[in-house]
Amino acid sequence: MKDILDKLEQRREQARLGGGQTRIDAQHKRGKLTARERIELLLDKGSFEEFDMFVEHRSHDFGMENTRFPGDGVVTGWGTVNGRTVFLFAKDFTVFGGSLSETHAQKIIKVQDAAMKARAPIIGLFDAGGARIQEGVASLGGYGEVFKRNVMASGVIPQISVIMGPCAGGDVYSPAMTDFIFMVRDTSYMFVTGPDVVKTVTNEVVTAEELGGASIHTTKSSIADGAYDDDVQCLLQMRRLIDFLPASSESGVPEWPSHDDIEREDLSLDTLVPDNPNKPYDIRELITKVVDEGDFFELSQAHAANIVIGFGRIAGRTVGFVANQPMALAGVLDSDASRKGARFVRFCDAFEIPIVTFVDVPGFLPGTAQEQGGLIKHGAKLLFAYSQATVPLVTIITRKAFGGAYDVMASKHVGADLNYAWPTAQIAVMGAKGAVEIIFRADIGDKDKIAARTKEYEDRFLSPFVAAERGYIDDVIMPRTTRRRIARALAMLKGKQVEMPKRKHDNLPV
Ligand code: HXC
Repeated sequence: MKDILDKLEQRREQARLGGGQTRIDAQHKRGKLTARERIELLLDKGSFEEFDMFVEHRSHDFGMENTRFPGDGVVTGWGTVNGRTVFLFAKDFTVFGGSLSETHAQKIIKVQDAAMKARAPIIGLFDAGGARIQEGVASLGGYGEVFKRNVMASGVIPQISVIMGPCAGGDVYSPAMTDFIFMVRDTSYMFVTGPDVVKTVTNEVVTAEELGGASIHTTKSSIADGAYDDDVQCLLQMRRLIDFLPASSESGVPEWPSHDDIEREDLSLDTLVPDNPNKPYDIRELITKVVDEGDFFELSQAHAANIVIGFGRIAGRTVGFVANQPMALAGVLDSDASRKGARFVRFCDAFEIPIVTFVDVPGFLPGTAQEQGGLIKHGAKLLFAYSQATVPLVTIITRKAFGGAYDVMASKHVGADLNYAWPTAQIAVMGAKGAVEIIFRADIGDKDKIAARTKEYEDRFLSPFVAAERGYIDDVIMPRTTRRRIARALAMLKGKQVEMPKRKHDNLPV
């Protein structure tokens, strides 16, 4: 009996070594942790339950029958993060570069199916070179099965991808279909084909960082939602993110104890908006002063900085925040900001996370670059996303709400439940200068007349009261009371129900 028990321990020990100590040392030398070390950091201590530790590949091509590693390049299973169940798979780069074989795919599929059955989030830790080249179409078929499950799970359970090494082919396409992608600076890369293939096909010489490093994917391509300096920081932040996320679309948002009084007023908000309407201020200050304990998890910070998105809590419950940022491009809506906002609004709506929108927007960004880049369609994505959202929507206009951007940013007209304005709000088709130059063009040569007309326009339109007179704004509120007003609104809207027309699905302007 003792022999049998010892044998189990020996086999486990061997599996834990993955591709062997030499490759583990090489992994550490590159500044990366192993798959198992990463799991230890991500999950609550001792909570990991592993599946399929002894699975091996079945390939006999290219001498593969002589190189088998228990686990076959991916560690899968489930555990808890602060007591809440999550499923995960972690690619083991020490085994065939984490590449995906038929059996490796079956392990991922098993954990995807288990996550769907249990209605719990799934996290993929990627450090892998795509399809196992020696397995050919069996590997491609495996990816297809994984991709299909990514899509079936979309909007049902949260899917998070963490890129922690060089990732290519299927190991970037699967993440692309999940809800969030995070990277580790200087050690992780994402590309469909790596620098060598690029050189062969196009003659272009490019480094891995230029082609698909965190610096590119968090700024230019916007494929990644954030990046961290090393594996440890990244995984600790993932724990923080998971605390904000619902387990599924039907679970409701998590509720954590909060010691932050919902009645808390913040006097400094009364002076947040500068007297000069062209002076910027940091909208992040408003968000962090409103949320519980100042805890705000921002997403896509380095891309389209003119819109801020992320999760916070009010009264212990998760809320999605969308806010124009006057510090970047005066908070204007452009194509990138619209896409960024739209995807976040759709995530929140899919998972029943209420959305609070802070508005200070001078309009859509004019110009050939934007128009030729498809601003109409990209702007429509945000408009569409808000208009189809059925979660509680609370909107607060702090300053400008001009033109079409007023409509788009969760106005009453597209379905917001409660619309508040600060006394500093200006709700109009456009600012005073532009308006007067158009409607009083004949007076343009007369400085005094123009000044008088401008004053008249400002007095009449650049306030919250024209909108409030029509009921488009439910109330004009004191800035210091913003947290309390939001908390009360969300509590009142907790049971919100909206009937949408029956259809197969809508046709979002993608
Ligand atoms: C089998 C692979 C592999 C692969 C790496 N290895 N990629 N084995 N299939 N796809 C093995 C190597 O042989 C090596 O084995 C070990 O993993 C480490 O690889 P290195 O090249 O030494 O590491 P590094 O220099 O860090 O480069 C990592 C890499 C590179 C950038 C991932 O290996 C690479 O470019 N691999 C190929 C990527 C690729 O083109 N994949 C196919 C994509 S197509 P030893 O024994 O030395 O440790 C695809 C189709 C899916 O995925 C469908 C998409 C829609």
